[in-house]
Amino acid sequence: MSSSRTELFRSIKGTFDILPEPSSSDDTLIAGSAAWRFVERKIADVMDRYGVREIRTPILEPTALIARGVGESTDIVTKEMFAFERGDTQYVLRPEVTAPVMRAYLQHHLDQQRSVQKLFYIGPCFRAERPQKGRYRQFHQFGVEYIGSSGVVADAEVIVLMIDIYRALGLSDCRLRLNTLGDESARPAFKDALVDFLRPHASKLSEISVRRLAENPLRILDTKSAEERAILDEGPRLIDFVPVESRERFDRLKDLLGGQGIMFVEDPFLVRGLDYYTETAFELESDLLDGAQNALAGGGRYDLLAREIGAKTAVPAVGFAAGMERLFLALHAASSALQSDAAPELYIVVLGEKAQEWASVTSRALRQAGVRVEVDISGRSAKAQMREANRLGALSVVVVGDDELQSGVARLRDMANAGEIEIRLDAEALKSGVASSLPVVDPEATR
Ligand code: HAM
Repeated sequence: MSSSRTELFRSIKGTFDILPEPSSSDDTLIAGSAAWRFVERKIADVMDRYGVREIRTPILEPTALIARGVGESTDIVTKEMFAFERGDTQYVLRPEVTAPVMRAYLQHHLDQQRSVQKLFYIGPCFRAERPQKGRYRQFHQFGVEYIGSSGVVADAEVIVLMIDIYRALGLSDCRLRLNTLGDESARPAFKDALVDFLRPHASKLSEISVRRLAENPLRILDTKSAEERAILDEGPRLIDFVPVESRERFDRLKDLLGGQGIMFVEDPFLVRGLDYYTETAFELESDLLDGAQNALAGGGRYDLLAREIGAKTAVPAVGFAAGMERLFLALHAASSALQSDAAPELYIVVLGEKAQEWASVTSRALRQAGVRVEVDISGRSAKAQMREANRLGALSVVVVGDDELQSGVARLRDMANAGEIEIRLDAEALKSGVASSLPVVDPEATR
């Protein structure tokens, strides 16, 4: 190893550490790991109630899967992939999880296990975008894919499930934007009409829109510029290119959502940035997030993806994915109380070597019995240990030295009301002593 000093390493821009305590990185507040676990558990609970089961796929995927699946001309594939070569294999760090889930579904013939597979995932994704608040290079998505059903009821259930997750977390004030992209036939014809319409206006378009005009014209519909929006307002409408069956399907979806009291806005400009969608497309936005990054989640139907990635026949599917970091930003803006780490139920203050040895054995027995126990491991003074017990919010404290060991009894202090009881110094007695001093938990509060 070289002996020359090297500068202190830092995490890569657009990535961040999730620490036990909340932290901030590049003006973004990163929730603590206990809050992540809490939110992930809430998400999994809602998934359970909908009968949606978890799937975990690799972070590494073949580059061609993403290029074919997401679409060769999309921003994700042309600009944002972390891709590399090793030997003669091309790898990509997955930028999204829908194509990988469909790959796994086809690879493992999951259709033979159930006619409809309802799957969810939570995990990291990677996109080489310009990092900013709500937009990162490594971010986390949770998402759902319903594979095997072409029915519009599946579209509705996926959307309602998505909304129920945010509701379960206390975010009920989100805006659902909804559109239909029609079937396979609608988009190419609309694209041609859009390009024909926009070409004479090219001098008034931004540089990026001019580039999109050549590469991926539908993305221009995403523009946030008021001037471009005004031009587009006069242009062709996707809905006019959509076959009547698709329009009827869309009406049925709106009825199904309306019937469940789900509010939505129809947005004829919503096309999404991935190429695999047909029929339904939707996004969930929140005013709690900054304008440009206000999409909490997005999704739609993607019946053609399976064929794009090698299946002999089309496989109907619909799903959504959501950014975990944006969810935390919204929760933070809404001042939602998030779970922090559970406090120790017992802190053992040890005085001397014998007590330390006794505490090692007893704390292990208590931990095996399910009690959260903390013991000093740094040889600190009794006073410093008491301070630490307070700092950690320990629910009860027992002080153990030679005298206590000799007599076999000590005093267990309930930190909430400062009451003390005499306690036998064995794991069983401590366990029941600790349990009797615990606060009563309202079962509703933990649901
Ligand atoms: P997407 O719209 O590209 O869709 O991403 C879904 C969500 O992931 C976004 O709404 C946003 O919350 C979050 N997200 C995306 N990029 C970033 C980033 N760079 N930093 C932070 N958060 C980000 C998909 O990925 C599709 N696979 C959704 C889908 C599932 N469609 C059907 N099934």
